[in-house]
Amino acid sequence: DGEVYKYYADGEWKKSASGKSVSIINPTTRTPQYMVQACTQEEVNKVMDAAKAAQKLWARTPLWKRAEFLHKAAAILKEHKNPIAECLVKEIAKPAKDAVTEVVRSGDLVSYTAEDGVRILGEGKLLVSDSFPGNERSKYCLSSKVPLGVVLAIPPFNYPVNLAVSKIAPALIAGNALVLKPPTQGAVAALHMIHCFHLAGFPKGLISCVTGKGSEIGDFLTMHPGVNCISFTGGDTGIAISKKAGMIPLQMELGGKDACIVLEDADLDLVAANIVKGGYSYSGQRCTAVKVVLIMESVADAAVEKVKAKMAKLSIGPPEENCDITPVVSESSANFIEGLVMDAKQKGATFCQEYRREGNLIWPLLLDHVRPDMRIAWEEPFGPVLPVIRIGSAEEGVHHCNASNFGLQGCVFTRDINKAMMISDAMETGTVQINSAPARGPDHFPFQGLKDSGIGSQGITNSINMMTKIKSTVINLP
Ligand code: G3H
Repeated sequence: DGEVYKYYADGEWKKSASGKSVSIINPTTRTPQYMVQACTQEEVNKVMDAAKAAQKLWARTPLWKRAEFLHKAAAILKEHKNPIAECLVKEIAKPAKDAVTEVVRSGDLVSYTAEDGVRILGEGKLLVSDSFPGNERSKYCLSSKVPLGVVLAIPPFNYPVNLAVSKIAPALIAGNALVLKPPTQGAVAALHMIHCFHLAGFPKGLISCVTGKGSEIGDFLTMHPGVNCISFTGGDTGIAISKKAGMIPLQMELGGKDACIVLEDADLDLVAANIVKGGYSYSGQRCTAVKVVLIMESVADAAVEKVKAKMAKLSIGPPEENCDITPVVSESSANFIEGLVMDAKQKGATFCQEYRREGNLIWPLLLDHVRPDMRIAWEEPFGPVLPVIRIGSAEEGVHHCNASNFGLQGCVFTRDINKAMMISDAMETGTVQINSAPARGPDHFPFQGLKDSGIGSQGITNSINMMTKIKSTVINLP
């Protein structure tokens, strides 16, 4: 109806003084669905000032009270799961059922963070001096965790709610203020989620959500002197942010090219089920999706047949109908995926299905006999297209995995736990899953990438710790 969603600052919903808006294109209809405010740099400055002031008081609010606010927000978030999920369907074409799951998972994440926070942050440390050579027992060092200040959270389009709360909740429980810059696709779902925090009654200015064009406020936010920590999930932009950001803690989760190594003794039904789930859920638009299958030649034909049979059962269509494969987020993304497919075609990959695309909707595709000279062997399609590379040994698989510039997760399928452990040790990735597809969750597990896949470690406990610093007080006896 032409209404522009307001941004959130100082505990209120506001229109930007820019008078401009950013429109959000529905990936399915490819027409504008929603509009959000195009905030100005001046508005960002005001948000930062308010955050700083609110944080001072929040840090002194008892930990159990901070936890209570979060529990309240979690409950409200779950109550609002349907309208938020509806936005996810319209903005990012997430299948309806998965959209509801994302919101419920987010509520659980917020509650768990509140519980974990009271335990972790409720503990400090006492050191005495006489353990270090030359010292008497005359100094007592008390240390505890204190907040960093203002945390800037930048989540990606594929989990605009869950990957926002995975930054918001740890920041808040630890006593920080939080500024959220949601992705454009997913901004309205994020604003709805922020409304739940608003209803929970957090102090004014402590949480804000600014929307707008990256070209106008992107660098301005990430290089803002008022920001004391950045938690970012997304693509290459994260590398640019890391180079420009000041001397502040960074938590970055960027791309991945998660390998699935299949050995000769693997359970091929389990392999096929995990390749289909890992490769094609949310149309491959997950940083932890299986992005290359490295399979022993001797079992490759049998496994590929099983994967093809399962793929034939995937439903393809609009997210409202809960289809397994839905349109990818944007036309440019679909074009990029198509470019990888055409490159593989030209270089002689075997197409297990016919390539088909209508608008942003790309039919699931398995490419067999992919070779290292094809772009798809190395690049991340972020779409429902998966390459299979046949290998002659486990070492060859590990070698391909480690030659990637990414190192997020990987997985290995075998019935031999000794081999699995050796391969896990050899794979240069943040996590290796044995006999299951890569995944970030459960959300309290550590989650980290090596190389271009990121900096730092996430997961609830790690994020809480990362968003604090150690403060010591030393008592000196006469
Ligand atoms: O897209 C990146 C997410 O961190 C992946 O999360 O494994 O729960 O899909 P997920």
